[in-house]
Amino acid sequence: MKIIEKKADLKIEINKLRNFSKTIGFVPTMGALHEGHISLITSSKNDNDITIASIFVNPTQFNDKKDYQRYPRILNDDVKKLEEAKCDILFIPTEEEMYPEEDNRQFDFGNIDKVMEGKFRPGHFRGVALIVSKLFEIVTPDRAYFGEKDFQQVAIIKHLTKLMCYPVEIVSCPIIRESDGLAMSSRNMLLNKEEREHVPLISKTLFKARNIAQKMNVEETKNWVIQTINADPFLKAEYFEIVNDTSLESINNWSQKGEKVGCIAVHVGNIRLIDNVRFYL
Ligand code: PAJ
Repeated sequence: MKIIEKKADLKIEINKLRNFSKTIGFVPTMGALHEGHISLITSSKNDNDITIASIFVNPTQFNDKKDYQRYPRILNDDVKKLEEAKCDILFIPTEEEMYPEEDNRQFDFGNIDKVMEGKFRPGHFRGVALIVSKLFEIVTPDRAYFGEKDFQQVAIIKHLTKLMCYPVEIVSCPIIRESDGLAMSSRNMLLNKEEREHVPLISKTLFKARNIAQKMNVEETKNWVIQTINADPFLKAEYFEIVNDTSLESINNWSQKGEKVGCIAVHVGNIRLIDNVRFYL
């Protein structure tokens, strides 16, 4: 695997690949890689000639400075995992490379950055859009891979791609979970032993909610989820919303058309975790 730090060097490499008509799959990450990230690499390898991953802990998407500071950074382990997964190129730019000057761009995402993560993490999706647009312009991928674990992020990226007319196919990939159901996340490694024992309740509650929904209306189902999570002294639900999977508008009635997704954010000590499940109703 080639490891590249400079935009200019990556561009040279990409031009060479384009001369040989190679297709490029791209997996942007913030590192502290786990099987969820590696599943994106595997999908990219299946679909493309060349797979490029990036690791960059993007400061503009952290609305909480402490979250940015304690975000795990373990590049040596990440490199090993990417080599095992046979990733072709790893791009690890510095902050100076990605933000040589202040980037003041604003994006209009309509409703989709006003709710859930957008509401509780102001500025977060603008930061995601800033960095992903820069990365897309440097890497010029044919396909880019994102996990449904960050369900709202996928909607934002699809919107951004249309808005900016990027000629890239956005591929969304299923959530990879630990054997006890916990959605894999780089932040899981920040949980202490006791917290780690309590967090599987998040996905367990979401999965149970799908059965509860057969007997209860939307409001009752939402309340049941929040109460079940908050009954655990280690967990505090920030929101649980059931939304249309494309517009991200709230569902008030199970008879509403479209695919429905239940999205949750939970505080565990000073760590914040998100998860989601689809409702088949
Ligand atoms: P990061 O949290 O490192 O995630 C990188 C990619 O891995 C995202 O597309 C995310 O949805 C996916 N991912 C994380 N956990 C997953 C899981 N359990 N199953 C499947 N996919 C999973 O998301 C970001 O970084 C950043 O916002 C980024 C897009 C890189 C922009 O900075």
